Amino acid sequence: MSRVVYVNGSYVPEDQGKVSIFDRGFLFADGVYEVTAVVGGKLVDYDPHMERLERSLKEIEMSWPCSKAELRQMHEELIKRNKLDEGIIYMQVTRGSADRDFKFPKETKSTLIAFTQVQKLLDNPYAVTGVKVVTIPDIRWARRDIKSVMLLAPVLGKQRAYEQGAFEGWMIEDGKITEGTSSNAYIVKDGRVITRALSNSILAGCTRRMLFRMAKEHGVTIEERLFTPDEAYAADEAFLTSASNFVLPIVEIDGKRIGGGQPGPTVRKLREIYLDEVRAQAGV
Ligand code: PDD
Repeated sequence: MSRVVYVNGSYVPEDQGKVSIFDRGFLFADGVYEVTAVVGGKLVDYDPHMERLERSLKEIEMSWPCSKAELRQMHEELIKRNKLDEGIIYMQVTRGSADRDFKFPKETKSTLIAFTQVQKLLDNPYAVTGVKVVTIPDIRWARRDIKSVMLLAPVLGKQRAYEQGAFEGWMIEDGKITEGTSSNAYIVKDGRVITRALSNSILAGCTRRMLFRMAKEHGVTIEERLFTPDEAYAADEAFLTSASNFVLPIVEIDGKRIGGGQPGPTVRKLREIYLDEVRAQAGV
């Protein structure tokens, strides 16, 4: 499969999508990214992703690589050129290419790249079976609110989870769950959804934000507080959210079955109302 990818203003075949070995994204992970879902050829929840990008850029003192209108147009052009019906668009902006020096280079143009990836989002078989997670230590830096491309800790964490037969790793800090390696973490107890409040300790998920809105409209209570692995083991239900998985039930944590090993009623309802909103946005 040969895609058309975007590199610094040009649309090129994927094997011609190249950036410099001096790019600071490559040398220092000096950049930020976004992953936006596409359903029915339409961007899902695009504006919150761009709001978060704006914040990430500001926090690392980088300016926009192009205008907001151009960035949206680039997303739409990639969908069109790749005839993408369902999947994701990955976009990354780095501080550009310069001689290796830790401090910011002067007058370097940022690097902007983006590509599509086909993925089944609506009919995800894991939504029916649920997935397993294992807990792992949270060894990341202190600014997890920034969607940084510095992802070695999540890469090692996801690999550790995969080797144990799990789909995701839930990271633990000071005895409490922070989030998944690439998703936000939730448990359900007595019909109430429990998830950690936003802070520098976790990424402010766009899926989380839309889920909060949908839950409110449908009378589902969400309690923002810390929770421990023991509380998670004793939960009625558990789930994760991300742009690439929407709302996904969890049926096992550290080998302990949650909710009898089946996706429970609250998470099934939340996934359904979430998908209704996605379908409405996509017009499918
Ligand atoms: N990851 N927490 C972390 C650490 C994440 O990396 C992600 C997303 C989320 C969920 O955010 P959102 O709902 O906006 O996707 C939470 C993306 C999907 C990724 O890195 O592929």
